[in-house]
Amino acid sequence: MTQTVGFAVIGVGLVGPTHARFIDEAAGAELKVVCDLREDRGRPLADQYDAAWLADYRQAVRRDDVQVVTICLPTALHLEVARAAAEAGKHVLVEKPIEMNLERARELIAICERHGVKLGAIFNRRFVFGTRRAHDAVQQGELGRLLVADMHFKSWRPPEYYTDSGWRGTWSQEGGAALINQGVHGVDLLTWIAGPIRRVQGYARHLRHHHIEADDTTIAVCEYASGALGVIQCATSVYPRQLDRIELHGERGTILLEDYKIAAWQIDGVAPGEPPAEELALPGADKGTSVGHFLQIQDMADAVREGRDPIVTGADALHSLAVIQAIYAAERTGGAVEVPQPPAR
Ligand SMILES: NC(=O)c1ccc[n+]([C@@H]2O[C@H](COP(=O)([O-])OP(=O)(O)OC[C@H]3O[C@@H](n4cnc5c(N)ncnc54)[C@H](O)[C@@H]3O)[C@@H](O)[C@H]2O)c1
Repeated sequence: MTQTVGFAVIGVGLVGPTHARFIDEAAGAELKVVCDLREDRGRPLADQYDAAWLADYRQAVRRDDVQVVTICLPTALHLEVARAAAEAGKHVLVEKPIEMNLERARELIAICERHGVKLGAIFNRRFVFGTRRAHDAVQQGELGRLLVADMHFKSWRPPEYYTDSGWRGTWSQEGGAALINQGVHGVDLLTWIAGPIRRVQGYARHLRHHHIEADDTTIAVCEYASGALGVIQCATSVYPRQLDRIELHGERGTILLEDYKIAAWQIDGVAPGEPPAEELALPGADKGTSVGHFLQIQDMADAVREGRDPIVTGADALHSLAVIQAIYAAERTGGAVEVPQPPAR
């Protein structure tokens, strides 16, 4: 367990600096390369951590001192960079959503499998105490048979969030907008906690950001494979931002999460407990769900050293994408859409 794992961060926009910080703070991990086409973004971050800046990701993934490549690029570039990394024999940790549609996501997974490299998918919000505790309560039957599982993610992004990026909100480079970018976190949590969704109906419209191609206001109803029902609401049009809410109702009670913290825990005879003290001291714990980024980076370094898969794999990222694509299809067709089911575990 003494080997240090070298990391390259590809993409220094909103989320790349978070990866760099937590690689620096993770045990047995070292940031070797920061890559961005833009020197004004890449070089200062590289200098901060005594790493190299490169503009060309092909060079970055080929470096001998890099074992893991983290992909923090516009969504439609995830596949080509993962391919380059896998062909160079490097493990891949990819930001959510894994890619912009199922076909490309499956190709990305297959390439990593073919080259025998590990593939981790970032879903940092699974790793905070509130969501983990809710997951365990449902999976261990503390909530009883689940009846309803909802998400309400009503947030705000200013117009520049879309106009300045050149890729967000486009079908060709993002595969959607609010639902695939912000909503994917919630759909991942719902399906991780409540199980697969088998059918959806709904609307995915832009009501405020008229210059984007895809949705800023999405409302869908869903039927889980278990028979439970739910609502998926996701918006970047709601001002001001409301707390992200996950609402779970089972035969034995109710759990409400607000911004991933337990806001209500109403199960007779079952206490939610408290986050362990050592968790509160982890890097990123001060910033809520950022702690998940730290834990997933630490996990990836450990997975490489221990020769095991990361906790959240590429395959784990497929079902939320399938649900999202089905909701977009429901908007286009006006009807109910069946969601392909994940293989039984
Ligand atoms: N987990 C989270 O909390 C979280 C938060 C934000 C973004 N994300 C995800 O991370 C990914 C990146 O999002 P973002 O908001 O940081 O994007 P961004 O647009 O802010 O940054 C992307 C960066 O990639 C660079 N880039 C583009 N093409 C490149 C290329 N060919 N080679 C090298 N650099 C290139 C750009 O110059 C830019 O600096 C997306 O998939 C997004 O969904 C996740």
